[in-house]
Amino acid sequence: MDLYKAITERRSIHEFKSTLIEEKELRGIFQTASWAPNHRMKQPWNVKMFQKDGAVDLAQLIIDSYKRSGFTDGYSEEKAEKMMEGIKKFLLKIPHHALIYMEKDQDFHRYEEDYAAVCAFIQNVQLAAWGKNIGVLWTSSPYISDEKFIEEVGLNEKKHKVVAVLQMGIPERIPGAKPRDEVPITFCRESFIKRS
Ligand SMILES: Cc1cc2nc3c(=O)[nH]c(=O)nc-3n(C[C@H](O)[C@H](O)[C@H](O)COP(=O)(O)O)c2cc1C
Repeated sequence: MDLYKAITERRSIHEFKSTLIEEKELRGIFQTASWAPNHRMKQPWNVKMFQKDGAVDLAQLIIDSYKRSGFTDGYSEEKAEKMMEGIKKFLLKIPHHALIYMEKDQDFHRYEEDYAAVCAFIQNVQLAAWGKNIGVLWTSSPYISDEKFIEEVGLNEKKHKVVAVLQMGIPERIPGAKPRDEVPITFCRESFIKRS
């Protein structure tokens, strides 16, 4: 696939078929994505892939986190329960949830470098998957920062940063493109340091 076409025609996918993608194919996508740039070759990305019963449990942990966060505050118990059921039903339709995390470097600059590299990795995952007709939605809902949720998926909030959860599967529907604005680029051609 032409690189420019892949970058511009990839879309975030919100509706998936129930078909599971073979683990070998998923491994191939993540391995390709690991060619992302990363400082000091730290390769800071880690993936926990939830599918089948693992996805059912993950959906429950996400619902529990929403409830703790006060998401349904102000609604009647009945309405709150309906809202949570709706979210759970939506989550259970997604065949794969790839939780992407990294170790937290204690040095802030290195932490930011690692975070940037993991984001480059995620975009590579999106593009590599798109090239195989697999859709991805990059999500960053507040539960990714919920300490209890992080512990419940087997990580340690002190040590690990959850960067995203990628919802993945064969697209049921591909949404239209959202056109981009012109990028504000300033070309600094003239000398600009004031010298006395
Ligand atoms: C850091 C990040 C977090 C995102 N989180 C969400 C999210 O939580 N829910 C969602 O529907 N889309 C999320 N998106 C996807 C954007 O909504 C999507 O990229 C944007 O609407 C443009 O659509 P396109 O990717 O199809 O061009 C996120 C994207 C990024 C980069």
